[in-house]
Amino acid sequence: MVEAARRLFSDRVDPAMPLFPYALRLVTEAAARAVFDWIGRGQKERSDAAAVAAMRAVLNALPFRGLVVIGEGEKDESAELHKGELLGAGEDPPGYDIAVDPLEGTTYLAKGVTNAMAVIAIAPRGTLLDPGPCFYMEKFVASPAARGEIDPTRPTGEKLRRLAECLGKRVQDLTVYVLEKPRHNRLVAEIHDAGARVALYPAGDVAGAIMAALPGSGIDALMGTGGTPEGIIAACAVRALGGTFLGRLDPQLATEKRRVQEAGLDTGRWYRIEELVASDAALFCATGITTGLLFEGVTLQDGQYRTQTLMISGVTGERQLLTTYLPVSD
Ligand code: FBP
Repeated sequence: MVEAARRLFSDRVDPAMPLFPYALRLVTEAAARAVFDWIGRGQKERSDAAAVAAMRAVLNALPFRGLVVIGEGEKDESAELHKGELLGAGEDPPGYDIAVDPLEGTTYLAKGVTNAMAVIAIAPRGTLLDPGPCFYMEKFVASPAARGEIDPTRPTGEKLRRLAECLGKRVQDLTVYVLEKPRHNRLVAEIHDAGARVALYPAGDVAGAIMAALPGSGIDALMGTGGTPEGIIAACAVRALGGTFLGRLDPQLATEKRRVQEAGLDTGRWYRIEELVASDAALFCATGITTGLLFEGVTLQDGQYRTQTLMISGVTGERQLLTTYLPVSD
């Protein structure tokens, strides 16, 4: 696979942004295949390590140079794909910001249930927000029709009524994706009080954000607090889709709260999507590990891995779902 990544670019081809989604799928497909054997075996750390190693090996074979700005980070205590790491076989200085989540939905994978995926996003260097020590972010995500129309500081019911107007729906017809966490009990009650439906998932708000940004997906909005890395990565996809993404740093852990305060970060500020991802040229790529909302998971049959990958390009505006078959021997 590393060789395949090298072959993708010849000396004559400038690794310009439009080609990148096709290269990035090698990165996420490799991670998905690398963890296939770990699905449903209760081994979070080992599966994460396998995804990280595979992703890193392919990234380092690509003829580009990028800086990891959203990495495995301190929350996962990973030494690889960490923030600040330079990746790629290209030359310095790095031309791209890289945001990775080699294993989004670690618990899903360990339990062998739906919605685990391998994810990467890249954007021109210096355009992805650095959230500092903040692991958690409150998010409001919706489709392009709501862009610029939602005031995230308003009460939940008011936001949903405005969203319904933008979408030309009744509030009763809205479905809001929320992570099923005790911190969201009040939010869920408010959504119910407003008359809308809630789709409660125990994990996986990257998929939820993309569903919310895609008109007609069955999910009209994502609300609540999830990971900041997942937020920035999802914001790349949502920006490329022209959707609505608002984010507020929302530390949950005691040490995180202290570090965020020490860093002088403003937890009252809502960031617009242009501040989270300051470029139209962001690229997003995700491969299913276990079958979920966006695509099917990785399978191995008759000596071939089968993967499904979603590629979204802010450069061309394309969204593609690709099914790849690869003989095990490669
Ligand atoms: P993992 O892959 O680290 O398990 O993350 C899954 C996830 O559900 C994300 O989609 C979400 O942003 C984050 O965890 C929420 O974190 P927490 O489960 O700590 O509330």
